[in-house]
Amino acid sequence: MITEKVRHAMNEQITHELESFYVYLSMAAYFHAQNLDGMAHWMRCQAHEEMIHAMKFYDHILDRGGRVTLADIKQIKTTWEKPLEPWQDAYEHEKFITGKIIDLAKICRAENDYTSEPLLAWFLNEQIEEEKNTDKVCRDLATVENSKEGILMLDRELAARVFTAGSPLDPAAYNLVA
Ligand SMILES: [Fe+2]
Ligand SMILES: [Fe+2]
Repeated sequence: MITEKVRHAMNEQITHELESFYVYLSMAAYFHAQNLDGMAHWMRCQAHEEMIHAMKFYDHILDRGGRVTLADIKQIKTTWEKPLEPWQDAYEHEKFITGKIIDLAKICRAENDYTSEPLLAWFLNEQIEEEKNTDKVCRDLATVENSKEGILMLDRELAARVFTAGSPLDPAAYNLVA
């Protein structure tokens, strides 16, 4: 069984992860409109990954006999001034999400919920990757800023992101994600 406090906090985290999905999909749409299809591709991969994150919490609640209740997703940003800005927002967003996972870990500890620890450890590790990846692109873009050739080069590089997970709705498929 899952305590009500943990269930509630994990439900909120599902919404944050689905918000992340929406944020990255919006960034993908912006990059498509800017003719930066490599960056758009990276964002679409990330959006897929965020749906998987949401489902990991969703299934964890269900597996422990809890009820999932989804909340509203707020309106998110749809446009930016230049390619660097969505990446900066993505980095800030990931730092916010890391804080949320830490809050969740604190709640689980306070509730003596040791069963959640492997899941939360997975997410804490995942957040290291998320912050590192988005920060790296920010720094690369800051280096080449205003250089069209530099932006195009990075766009081509980001087009190479490979994402092999299957459907985010199928635990057997989404568990492939490291
Ligand atoms: Fe996430
Ligand atoms: Fe990731």
